Amino acid sequence: MSKTQLFDLDGKIAFVSGASRGIGEAIAKLLAQQGAHVIVSSRKIEGCQHVADAIIADGGKATAIACHIGEMEQISGVFARIREEFGRLDILVNNAATNPQFCNVLDTDLGAFQKTVDVNIRGYFFMSVEAGKLMREHGGGSIINVASINGVSPGVFQGIYSVTKAAVINMTKVFAKECAQFGIRCNALLPGLTDTKFASALVSNEKILNTALQQIPLKRVAAPSEMAGTVLYLASDASSYTTGVALNVDGGFLS
Ligand SMILES: NC(=O)c1ccc[n+]([C@@H]2O[C@H](COP(=O)([O-])OP(=O)(O)OC[C@H]3O[C@@H](n4cnc5c(N)ncnc54)[C@H](OP(=O)(O)O)[C@@H]3O)[C@@H](O)[C@H]2O)c1
Repeated sequence: MSKTQLFDLDGKIAFVSGASRGIGEAIAKLLAQQGAHVIVSSRKIEGCQHVADAIIADGGKATAIACHIGEMEQISGVFARIREEFGRLDILVNNAATNPQFCNVLDTDLGAFQKTVDVNIRGYFFMSVEAGKLMREHGGGSIINVASINGVSPGVFQGIYSVTKAAVINMTKVFAKECAQFGIRCNALLPGLTDTKFASALVSNEKILNTALQQIPLKRVAAPSEMAGTVLYLASDASSYTTGVALNVDGGFLS
């Protein structure tokens, strides 16, 4: 009996935003382990190069490319480069997001609002548009949006961030419905509390952490690597009939 090939990504080109650390790094490494050539991206090239070098040292294929997904011209630039260097894209993981202000919603400042919307909504949207056009030319692909449990149940003092994550869940359904005809699937991952720099203010504060753990049936915070398996499923043929879904990976928080 031979092992399943359903999770193989040999020959695939994958782009992972926010891949220099945290959840994105874990995703990039797992996709590369399964055979994909991974474009490791974030704003700062040094961190991306570090992750790409680690993938290559491990026998995988990776290229580091900087891209600030809140800047429209950087999105156009990165896709021009992908077309030139790779000619195709099979998997897009929209993972990089921002959450610049923790405050009561009534204290939201316009700058933080604009930055959050520009990165978390406009960035995900136009990365998907550019990737979708390239995928359409080659018969399809898979887009995975890293949203959040906050998109369903807003986090305290995370108002506009939670609003953008709800938008990402809806965006996932929009792309799923309109791009299915081009062979493109689009799904979302909703991580729960995960031990990364992004969540360090919550995880390193014992009082906040204990309150959070009371609401998580598995009674622990996730490791970044625990998010990557779901992305591999959504990126691979194992999920070939799955599109438009939002998968909670949250230790039972939303159940
Ligand atoms: N950690 C959690 O508890 C948690 C829970 C739910 C959802 N999430 C979601 O999971 C995703 C990843 O979060 P994480 O916890 O892994 O965060 P993280 O460890 O802080 O990593 C964030 C990554 O995004 C990059 N980045 C930030 N702003 C960017 C921008 N404008 N353009 C391009 N890259 C950018 C960062 O690198 P540079 O600084 O080089 O740009 C870094 O690679 C986010 O969508 C977040 O909303 C996280």
